[in-house]
Amino acid sequence: MSEASSEKQVQYNRVAKKYSEKLVQYRAGVREKSGGTARTVESLFPDFNKVGLGVHLEYSRMGNQPVTDELQDRAEALNIDFEHLGLTLGTVLHNVDLKDPVTPELVAFIRDTLLERKVIFFRDQHLTEDEQVSFGRMFGDLDAFPFGKPGNNPFILEISHSEQSPGAENSWHTDVTWMEKPSLGSIAQCVNVPPYGGDTLFSDSYACYQGLPQAMQEKLQHLHGINDYQVFLMGRGDGQLPDDIVEGLKKEIPFGVSHPLLRTHPETGRTTLYMHGGFLRHESLYDVRTQKTLPERDAKKTVAFLQQQHGRPEYTCRFNWAPGSIAFWDNRAVQHYAASDYYPHERLLRRVTVSGDKPYYKPETSKQGRT
Ligand SMILES: [Fe+2]
Repeated sequence: MSEASSEKQVQYNRVAKKYSEKLVQYRAGVREKSGGTARTVESLFPDFNKVGLGVHLEYSRMGNQPVTDELQDRAEALNIDFEHLGLTLGTVLHNVDLKDPVTPELVAFIRDTLLERKVIFFRDQHLTEDEQVSFGRMFGDLDAFPFGKPGNNPFILEISHSEQSPGAENSWHTDVTWMEKPSLGSIAQCVNVPPYGGDTLFSDSYACYQGLPQAMQEKLQHLHGINDYQVFLMGRGDGQLPDDIVEGLKKEIPFGVSHPLLRTHPETGRTTLYMHGGFLRHESLYDVRTQKTLPERDAKKTVAFLQQQHGRPEYTCRFNWAPGSIAFWDNRAVQHYAASDYYPHERLLRRVTVSGDKPYYKPETSKQGRT
């Protein structure tokens, strides 16, 4: 360092120290004036950065513990160990063998754990396709998938990537919002993994909603958007699908369905941020009370803003697959993102989806209880 620049550095540090002392004094004065009143948690987070607050509010709604005492007691009675991946979402259930006869008690326990933890995982299951389908049926009817490669069992969707087909599920989304009644949940089992990478990330849609600036929460209350499956009609690098197939699809499967951007979880009664940016027509947002469409620029800006929300790492947990791993996620409570970081390696998951119901939004009127 030259002598001149070192003198400049000394001068800068002198000024920095002077102002840090002034600011400490100023803040102490402000505190004294306010009579030492404790600030509310909300006021500690500026409105432009409420991410940490969103997580905090969700966790405190959960009683500041990852699961209820009641669920923990049931886990112990069933000899199941929880491994929680995130503060508010994601839990691996150890000591469960889904090949064993799955009792109604275990099904109810899995369902309740899913409601509390939003996405749950099992290791080393290695279910056959039929066993995976039977497991899915324990939670409701199943939805077949018209746009992908089915397995030997038609309710299995193969999510398969290789040198010829790079991973393409790397955007934050909740599944099949082009359906009038999007699937309640998805159950994916890993068959093949790349040597490294290929994780799936999940993001808490309750916390994402609570972490939005208040003005945005209010704006979204009455907004709906139109979703469709246009993206699947484009083909995969092989041009648009033939007209007769496209026309047939559009005739038999509604093309363009309206869903709210805020969704009331039908089982918990609580609000989530609900959107699939790939299926939603970004310019289509409208006020459901007046049927008036938002100006296009405003609509696109709103969607662009919301698309970033689930990607904030604070809201997420990350799952590293191995053959036989199973993830079961609640499409009403989380969004997910499959990292496409393993090309040209292979990755194969098999998925079944449990039927859901029509999304709606009803404002939370009183303090909602735990899940
Ligand atoms: Fe997905």
